[in-house]
Amino acid sequence: MTKLLVTKRDLMHVAATTLAPAVFAPAIITRTAFAEENKKEEKSDTAEEVTPPEDLMREHGVLDRVLLIYDTAIRRLSANEDFDPAVISDCAKLVQDFIENYHEKSEEDFLFPRFRKANQLTDLVATLLEQHQAGRNVTLNILKSAARVRGEAGAKHDCINAMHAFITMYRPHAAREDTVLFPKLRDIVSGHEFDAIGEEMEKREHQHFGEDGFEKAVAHVAELERKVGLYDLKQFTPKI
Ligand SMILES: [Fe+2]
Ligand SMILES: [Fe+2]
Repeated sequence: MTKLLVTKRDLMHVAATTLAPAVFAPAIITRTAFAEENKKEEKSDTAEEVTPPEDLMREHGVLDRVLLIYDTAIRRLSANEDFDPAVISDCAKLVQDFIENYHEKSEEDFLFPRFRKANQLTDLVATLLEQHQAGRNVTLNILKSAARVRGEAGAKHDCINAMHAFITMYRPHAAREDTVLFPKLRDIVSGHEFDAIGEEMEKREHQHFGEDGFEKAVAHVAELERKVGLYDLKQFTPKI
């Protein structure tokens, strides 16, 4: 509704100031103005689409929330406090399903080959790929030891070490992708290809998770945060 009013106002202004003397000018202006309006509509539709970097960055947000849970598990277990082993296992399974088998596969299938083809950031891409593989092994170690952290000192030690290794690698890994790799994507592909990558990624998301894959992952990690008292964001505000 607002857009239509603006269009009419624009139309009247242009007609009155520039082309009022011409007999058929209003019809011409009308077509031009509506064409402009259509362009604006198309633009705003496109703006609603999630771009590949935005998509991948918000998935990193899910990963970061898992890292917070791992951080807390390490701190509590190291202080000989209890921590629900099922939450650690569920985090590792969420990482396998959402990060390793989906998010990283998207990076490996849709982004990395394009950087190699463009001969850009190839060393970084090689390191990121190596870290994906290392991360998968670390997650397997977390899964192997998590269930026994309450009863076996060795398993607790292994689990803490594995979670620590995972956090140590993934914080700089994701930060490097967010600040160096993803912003560069627009420079190495055409606008059409950039949009096509977004569509391919969306298709993959639907194939893998059905509807609302991202929203489900966010809900899952929020539920895990609630179980271990990490959901309330206010607890992290410093008291100054
Ligand atoms: Fe990655
Ligand atoms: Fe990533």
